[in-house]
Amino acid sequence: MGRLDGTVALVTGASSGIGEASARALAAEGAAVAIVARRGERLRALGGEIADAGGTALPVEADVSEREQAEAAVAEAVAELGRLDVLVNNAGVMLLGPIHEAPVEEWDRMVEVNVLGLLYTARAALPHLIEAAAGEPRRVADLVNISSVAGRIARKGSGVYNATKFAVGAFSESLRQEVAGRQVRVSLIEPGAVATELQSHNRDEIRKQIEKRFEQIEILQAEDVADAIAYVATRPPHVAVNELLIRPSGQEG
Ligand SMILES: NC(=O)c1ccc[n+]([C@@H]2O[C@H](COP(=O)([O-])OP(=O)(O)OC[C@H]3O[C@@H](n4cnc5c(N)ncnc54)[C@H](OP(=O)(O)O)[C@@H]3O)[C@@H](O)[C@H]2O)c1
Repeated sequence: MGRLDGTVALVTGASSGIGEASARALAAEGAAVAIVARRGERLRALGGEIADAGGTALPVEADVSEREQAEAAVAEAVAELGRLDVLVNNAGVMLLGPIHEAPVEEWDRMVEVNVLGLLYTARAALPHLIEAAAGEPRRVADLVNISSVAGRIARKGSGVYNATKFAVGAFSESLRQEVAGRQVRVSLIEPGAVATELQSHNRDEIRKQIEKRFEQIEILQAEDVADAIAYVATRPPHVAVNELLIRPSGQEG
């Protein structure tokens, strides 16, 4: 018996990294998972893998930074899978570098995905989470927002990424208070360095700087963070894990 049997989860950014690992982890706990991202082929491959393992997965191609697409993804998940108990708001981009003379398109992308995409998806999911929390099988629902250590500590060279993740923290705390009385738990996960595709989208010189910063330490795997997400979503109904900061053991800042 899985601890999420009879429930439905939606994971954004499920085509790679933390989202992909989280979808697997939640499916292994028994949740039917709607897996959302832009790269449909990757989603279909993951969906096949989850189905082969005896789970249920619904690939949904969507760009969450487009409000209609975020709303349609949530609507499709509910229409196809019947309800929504867990939202993992994970889709994100990290494009680092100095603020002075930065390519403004990089800022636009980060704000659109990390902030607006997360807000649109949360808003679309909330009525369904509130409904799921009012009944069986769990009498609780989960909205898990993926922030970062960068949402707690600002650093030179990551100002706008910091700004987007600080925004995620502020939004999460406000929403937590708003829905606490309705058995919807809002959780903030703040990973340190994780081995995913995230840094690969940076300009060459920036990517090299990121690699250099972490070359001496063993960084986290996506599964380590997925484990934390599954932990949060499988607590008994009276336990809300509001915030989880999770760094590689060797990461200082
Ligand atoms: N890796 C780290 O060190 C680290 C540390 C702290 C926090 N985080 C956070 O963890 C989250 C996941 O990142 P990751 O490390 O797993 O990186 P990743 O492997 O690059 O995954 C990012 C995911 O977001 C999706 N995505 C990007 N733009 C999207 C859009 N417009 N609409 C829908 N999906 C979109 C990508 O899918 P498509 O390209 O297919 O759309 C991909 O599935 C991010 O919020 C990131 O800020 C990561």
